[in-house]
Amino acid sequence: MADLLKAKMIVDKNYEIAKVDERIYGSFIEHLGRAVYGGIYEPEHPDSDEQGFRTDVIDLVKELNVPIIRYPGGNFVSGYNWEDGVGPKEERPRRLELAWRTIETNELGTNEFVDWAKKVNAEVMMAVNLGTRGIDAARNLLEYTNHPGGTYWSDLRKSHGYEAPHNIKTWCLGNEMDGPWQIGHKTAHEYGRIAKETAKAMKLVDPTIELVACGSSNTNMPTFPEYEAITLDHAYEEVDYISLHQYYGNHANDPGNYLAKNMDMDHFIKTVISTCDYIKAKHRSKKTLNLSFDEWNVWYHSNEEDKKIEPWTVAPPQLEDHYNFEDALLVGSMLITFLQHADRVKMACLAQLVNVIAPIMTENTGRSWKQTIFYPYMHASVYGRGISIKPILTSPKYDSKDYTDVPYIDSAVVYNEEKEEVTIFMVNKNLEESITVSSDVRSFEGYRLSEHIVLENDDLKAVNTASHQAVTPHGNGQSTLEEGMLEASLPKTSWNVIRLNKS
Ligand code: AHR
Repeated sequence: MADLLKAKMIVDKNYEIAKVDERIYGSFIEHLGRAVYGGIYEPEHPDSDEQGFRTDVIDLVKELNVPIIRYPGGNFVSGYNWEDGVGPKEERPRRLELAWRTIETNELGTNEFVDWAKKVNAEVMMAVNLGTRGIDAARNLLEYTNHPGGTYWSDLRKSHGYEAPHNIKTWCLGNEMDGPWQIGHKTAHEYGRIAKETAKAMKLVDPTIELVACGSSNTNMPTFPEYEAITLDHAYEEVDYISLHQYYGNHANDPGNYLAKNMDMDHFIKTVISTCDYIKAKHRSKKTLNLSFDEWNVWYHSNEEDKKIEPWTVAPPQLEDHYNFEDALLVGSMLITFLQHADRVKMACLAQLVNVIAPIMTENTGRSWKQTIFYPYMHASVYGRGISIKPILTSPKYDSKDYTDVPYIDSAVVYNEEKEEVTIFMVNKNLEESITVSSDVRSFEGYRLSEHIVLENDDLKAVNTASHQAVTPHGNGQSTLEEGMLEASLPKTSWNVIRLNKS
């Protein structure tokens, strides 16, 4: 039976937004819960390699093709002494970790993380502590990681067995410094000043690095977007990106409203772009500042469980959200939102990667598995590289509790010229009905339909576990392509990946 609801789209190769910076498919590993210990690193696990890294987890991370991984925090970094995590393991101190009130053993530190990142083919995005520490610790860490040799800190690295510098290119100037929960929380003026001075010193050590200044922790912060404006008023010329963080949840169990939340993300991005451009104009600057959305995800399922965790234990199961099918849909829509802003959002980190609000879960010394959100993230990362094309979409709409005129269809298109491939990502948010999307793709002459992948499930609350993958994609999507017209039927509440190619 034909779908009652219909949408129309024009996909023209001339409507370029920008080349997608592959770093928008980044992720994040913090010293928090079981992300590091029991997640990426577990020497006791039967599948661990000679350095204690879980090879099952390495394989899953590689499937996601993650280009850059933020480390070591997060809130953790604001109390971290990086020196605790280098040198002989038996000499490393156990410390009270104040951000998450656990014990940090420091068994894994900077060098081991760089080694692990190489194994998963990712770059490192390193954060420095601007909470309890400042310029000195930051410039010393950079000298340790990036200076070739012949100085105190670079020779210390060599003495630790790392002859060649790590050459870490991307650095975060602290974490969520606008948040009262942050150790060493700062007003915008306090932060703007220290961000500028730390940036100056770090770029003297290594002028090739790129720096990310902290923006607001979410759109509900009372200081948003003043925090960005004041910070950049101080540090605009010294930094290269401003960060955005945002997590969503479905506390009210209102799926229609929940699935619309990427509209808030879109508003967040537009507001930060305007703020950057206002400061650019104010400073008569020639430089355009880009955005690093370096924490984003769904986060709410584990909130109550986390309250029961005893303090001062090693690697407790914190922030272990078990994602359901509707979460995967919102994650898909958030990825679409990044692609729609490919001209200004140059980095983004799904927070986080393993066990802690993550697409990958593990059992201690046991199995690992893919959460529901693994799939849209993997599809976007693997197929979403090329030029982001602006689809001209006319979709039926709905109103929800917090949003009006929510399009049922979200869409982003990526054209990979070298591979002669076009990928159309779409979410159908309609809770009851499938929708036919008719797309004019005539500008892609000679292209044929290669596959239509669908993630769908009758139960919005279906979850994946170690023993049962209830939510997995299939390749039986209903699409046809004839004479440049693509007709696709998108099932109710579904994530769709339609791929065209020439070969
Ligand atoms: O990703 C979990 C936490 O969320 C991070 O430590 C912090 O930056 C944010 O509030």
